Amino acid sequence: MNILLLGSGGREHALAWKLAAAPSCSRLFAAPGNPGIAEHADIVALDAGDHKAVIAFCHQNAVELVVVGPEAPLVAGLAEDLRAEGIAVFGPGKGAAQLEGSKGFTKDLCKRANIPTAKYERTASLEEAWSALKRFDAPFVLKADGLAAGKGVVIAHTREEAQHALSEMFDGKFGSAGSEVVIEEFMHGEEASFFALSDGEIILPFGTAQDHKRVGEGDTGPNTGGMGAYSPAPVLTDALIDRAMREVVVPTVRTLAEEKMPYRGVLYAGLMLTKEGPKLVEYNIRFGDPECQVLMMRFEGDLAKLLKACATGDLATADPVRFSDDTALTVVMAAEGYPGTPKKGGSIALGDAEVDGAKVFHAGTALDDSRALVASGGRVLNVTARGSSVTEAQSAAYKAVDAITFPDGFCRRDIGWREVEREGGRV
Ligand code: AMP
Ligand code: GLY
Repeated sequence: MNILLLGSGGREHALAWKLAAAPSCSRLFAAPGNPGIAEHADIVALDAGDHKAVIAFCHQNAVELVVVGPEAPLVAGLAEDLRAEGIAVFGPGKGAAQLEGSKGFTKDLCKRANIPTAKYERTASLEEAWSALKRFDAPFVLKADGLAAGKGVVIAHTREEAQHALSEMFDGKFGSAGSEVVIEEFMHGEEASFFALSDGEIILPFGTAQDHKRVGEGDTGPNTGGMGAYSPAPVLTDALIDRAMREVVVPTVRTLAEEKMPYRGVLYAGLMLTKEGPKLVEYNIRFGDPECQVLMMRFEGDLAKLLKACATGDLATADPVRFSDDTALTVVMAAEGYPGTPKKGGSIALGDAEVDGAKVFHAGTALDDSRALVASGGRVLNVTARGSSVTEAQSAAYKAVDAITFPDGFCRRDIGWREVEREGGRV
């Protein structure tokens, strides 16, 4: 089948790599893509915001499956517009996409379906928010309701700080995303990510990972989209995965189906492992970036066939999901300045990074006028390797990092530290 992949980051490079290698994929198109994706797909100039153009392209090129990488086109309703034209899409429709598009929607759904999560109140004005704040204790968790590119969450340590942040939010700091704000109870515990595929009815667990959101070593400094990840996440034991499925994911998918918003795609549950058990922090309606890179590094099988089955309600007859037992670990190399204003145009030479089986996924790269590889974004490369433990995967990933010449780049040197510490140097 012919497939169209939408997106331009490291997540999409990893998906393109696996889709292109799938026996059931005849031709892979990607828009807007990047130089790494171009090694596996035909790059086409298509704007995911122009639904008519995407539909016309699919008809002209006999595209049978559209795989949507990022959340914004899904929240904007691209999936149902394509489905209305008979084109299968990996990704939920506008209704179910609210799981990521509106924090308040998700919290209300958790309440209706009795899903464990932090206590919360939705507020629609500064007055309401200040008054709701009185019913919470520090630290205060304040979330802009809508999509805010991962930046809409403030953890305030004092009441004054919280009041100030709320004023800024209602003043438009996050644009229209902040016209509603959810105030939440702070949950204590370790965070981990759990992925599941759903075709609207059937749900298949699709692996675990742990991300590193802060820019600096030791989890310090500002939040980012993620500076590195590994999969699987051993803290998510089989028993915890069972609970997360039973108490969080299954009731979510069932409730959405009952409410005529079937979930077709990957559901990414951000979980807090609290003393009382796993609780939902947030949902994403797409693969994580860079979590997808480590999942794809371990995935075995025909990804195109699996995602198509997910898109068409056929997971019941799909081949079982298989992952390598190895751990995969990815290190994000970012451009100086990230997560503020990243320096553009820095030269990159990949050298021998991939000789020992590592993969370098392109996240924010471009080719300059002389067709040399340069940085063109905040997160630039995802250097990904496998090993029989986190410690081993970590050392293979950093060996590949050290083979790369990117003078304007930097990375954290401690990706995987929690598990490496728990493994105590075991390999
Ligand atoms: P979110 O965008 O909802 O994932 O929030 C971003 C980050 O804020 C999460 O990854 C957590 O580290 C933190 N966070 C969000 N909600 C809570 C909460 N209720 N309690 C503690 N930490 C939270
Ligand atoms: N790495 C976090 C995310 O994709 O949301």
